[in-house]
Amino acid sequence: MSMHDFIQALPKAELHLHIEGTLEPELMFALAQRNGVELPYHSVEALRAAYDFGNLQDFLDLYYQGMSVLQTEQDYYDLTMAYLQKSRAQNVLHTEIFFDPQGHTERGIEFSTVFNGIHQALKDGRHELGISSRLIMCFLRHLEESDAMATLQQAMPYKEHIIGVGLDSSELGHPPAKFKNVYALAREAGFLPVAHAGEEGPAEYVASALDDLQIVRIDHGNRCLDDPALVKRIASEQIPLTVCPLSNLKLCVVTDMRQHPLRQMLNSGLLVTLNSDDPAYFGGYVNENYIAVQQALNLSRTELADLARNSFTASFLSREDRREMLAKIDQAVAG
Ligand code: ADE
Ligand code: ZN
Repeated sequence: MSMHDFIQALPKAELHLHIEGTLEPELMFALAQRNGVELPYHSVEALRAAYDFGNLQDFLDLYYQGMSVLQTEQDYYDLTMAYLQKSRAQNVLHTEIFFDPQGHTERGIEFSTVFNGIHQALKDGRHELGISSRLIMCFLRHLEESDAMATLQQAMPYKEHIIGVGLDSSELGHPPAKFKNVYALAREAGFLPVAHAGEEGPAEYVASALDDLQIVRIDHGNRCLDDPALVKRIASEQIPLTVCPLSNLKLCVVTDMRQHPLRQMLNSGLLVTLNSDDPAYFGGYVNENYIAVQQALNLSRTELADLARNSFTASFLSREDRREMLAKIDQAVAG
C-alpha cells in the first residue's frame, strides 16, 4: 500500500477547522451571485492568486472579506455540507468545527441564521454520511471583551449544541488575559474552553491561555517550544495541541515544511494532532496535511497512526466513542 493510500485508509478526527475557512473560491463566487454581492475579483483564478500571505493578518483580511457572501441559513448549510462531504471522502470520521459568530453578526446576520444552517448540516452529516461532529464558538480577539460577552449571551439558547468556546483572529497585541472574564462565565455555563495560542504570539500567551483562561486544548501552540519548562508542563498534563502544518507554511509561521517542529513536539512527549485550519485558503484538507508532513519529515506509518490516534484521544468524544475509533485505527493498521 502506498503511503498516500495508508493515510487515506487511516480513520482520523479533525479538531481545528474554521468552517468559514472551508469556503472554496467556486462556492464563494456562486454565493456572491446568489446573494447579489460584488466581489473585488473577476474570477476564481484571480481570487486564488491573491492567496499569498506574508502573515496571519494578510490572511484574515481576505478571510473576513470572503465570508461576506454568507447570508442565508441555506448558505451556511451548503458551506458546512460541502466540508463534511470532503472530510468523509478523506476518512475523517469525526470533526470539531469552529465558527466565528461575530464575523457574521457584525454584518447584520442573525446568530440564529448562522447557527441553524451549520447545525442542520451537522445533523444531516451524521445521518447521511456517518460523520460525528461538535461545534465550538470562537470569540474574535481583535474585538473587545464586551463584544465577546454579548456573543456568549446570544449563544446561551443553543448551549446544548455548542460544546466549547475558542479564541481566534489577530493574536499579537491581543493576549488571552483580555478575555479572562468571558471565559470564566463560559466555563461556568458548561462550555469547554480552548484558544488559539502561540501561532504568532509568544510562549507567554500559551501559558496565559492555560492559567488565565484554563483551556483544555491549545490551538496551534507552536511557540510553546520557546519555553522548555512550559513544554514539560504541557506534556506532563497531556494538554493536546491542534497543529496545522499547511496553515503554518502559508502564514509563514514556518519558512519550509522541513523546518516544521512537529517531530520536536512529538519527541517532547506532546499530545499533537494534525488539522487543516482553513483548507480553502491553505491548499489542503486533513489528508494533504498528513501527506505534507510525512514527506517533509519522513514520518513512518507508526508515527502517522499515532497522530491519528492522538486526534481521537484529544477529541471531545465520549470515552466509549474514542475507544471505538481507536479500535478502527488498529484494524486499518493491521490491513
Ligand atoms: N481564524 C481563522 N483561522 C485562523 C488562524 N489560523 N489563526 C487565527 N485566527 C484564525
Ligand atoms: Zn485556526
